[in-house]
Amino acid sequence: MPALVLLGAQWGDEGKGKATDLLGGSVDYVVRYQGGNNAGHTVVVGDQKYALHLLPSGILSPGCTPVIGNGVVVDPSVLFSELNGLNERGVDTSKLLISGNAHIITPYNVTVDKVTERFLGKRKIGTTGRGIGPTYADKINRVGIRVQDLYDESILMQKVEAALDGKNQLLTKVFNRRAIESEQVVEELLTYAEKLRPYVADTVLVLNKALEEDKVVLFEGGQGTLLDIDHGTYPFVTSSNPTAGGACTGSGVGPTKISRVIGILKAYTTRVGAGPFPTELFDEDGEALRRIGHERGVTTGRDRRCGWFDAVIARYATRVNGLTDFFLTKLDVLTGWEEIPVCVAYEIDGKRVEELPYSQTDFHHAKPIYETLPGWSEDITKAKTFADLPKNAQDYVKALEEMSGAPISAIGVGPGRDETIEINSFI
Ligand code: GDP
Ligand code: IMO
Ligand code: MG
Repeated sequence: MPALVLLGAQWGDEGKGKATDLLGGSVDYVVRYQGGNNAGHTVVVGDQKYALHLLPSGILSPGCTPVIGNGVVVDPSVLFSELNGLNERGVDTSKLLISGNAHIITPYNVTVDKVTERFLGKRKIGTTGRGIGPTYADKINRVGIRVQDLYDESILMQKVEAALDGKNQLLTKVFNRRAIESEQVVEELLTYAEKLRPYVADTVLVLNKALEEDKVVLFEGGQGTLLDIDHGTYPFVTSSNPTAGGACTGSGVGPTKISRVIGILKAYTTRVGAGPFPTELFDEDGEALRRIGHERGVTTGRDRRCGWFDAVIARYATRVNGLTDFFLTKLDVLTGWEEIPVCVAYEIDGKRVEELPYSQTDFHHAKPIYETLPGWSEDITKAKTFADLPKNAQDYVKALEEMSGAPISAIGVGPGRDETIEINSFI
């Protein structure tokens, strides 16, 4: 059985954690391939709720090996506080593997993230402030620190000095901050070296061997398609590739090994942080979606911006990821609306546009063209099969499937593991 990718089809927070956890029991490896602790993935198991930021959601499934791939950026302090938190709740985390090629989020990357945002003022991205962008910038600038660097003190010192050289100029002369001492940074990083050692592995080899042995590997995306640095609403994006191609570069597994790409799709739309959002609602409906859907960020606690479902975005996600399936989440949140508008196309400068415009300016000007679908009032949280759904909910799902370009193979009707309607099996 080859590999599967599970990723966000919108602006993140689609329910990737729940979907990953659901499949976790049937897969051998769950791999994070990009992003870092900017993610916030919620998993609800019985009466227990877990919020995972850096660790793959597969860590909650005892038979599964969680892997942090080379494409992830790792904040060691966050890693250990998350591991400790899980251990205290009785979760065995000993199987975790971390790529020696993963880059480390250093304290100065976090500082640079925060001061840059402050400096941007009104033009800020609204980042999570976790140092994600600056760490990926260092990686691309070839001044990043990798996990393996912790095991060669003199190399580590040279690399930290090289990374801090320009940054200290910037911090002191532009941002009016104190310079950061390389010795202090190295000292802090070295405190993690031995604690990290048991987890560090050649994850590329491990994963490719596992696939040769017919093991099942699930790639768990962080963020979402529209937050992708290449394919998202740049510059209001994250600094990695959550889209399907990122699973290959972020893990060292080739595209020929991937048989299924599942897009997690919320039955409406949310976004955290700044940037264009054509179907955003500023009225009571938006408030109601936020309230009923508990749309508050897991990582930063910020209210999520809410709006109606946008089929243009879903079609785009199908295209750029080569999606084979959708997992539609949070259908239950829409219960109670008499009518539900769905954005089917945009009006841009007086013209009807069916596909996501490549021009950022056009996207900023896009006005949603809605079709209105009849709603339902029956409680759907106990539905186990598609046939259990009221007719209007079935029609809503079918309409979304038709518009979005890939089959909807599962439907979430609540946050719990069992609150899911499985239509086509994923594995
Ligand atoms: P992720 O970042 O994609 O993993 O998503 P988040 O965990 O940030 O946000 C999704 C939220 O929706 C979490 O609180 C989940 O527990 C919850 N959730 C996931 N699927 C469903 C669903 O089908 N119905 C409801 N009501 N909540 C869901
Ligand atoms: P999960 O995995 C939603 C957003 C931030 C900001 C932008 C850049 O839970 O879906 P960054 O700190 O990454 O440089 O911030 O991306 N963002 C997310 N929004 N869900 C996430 O993760 C996000 N991770 C980053 O709000 O707009
Ligand atoms: Mg989230």
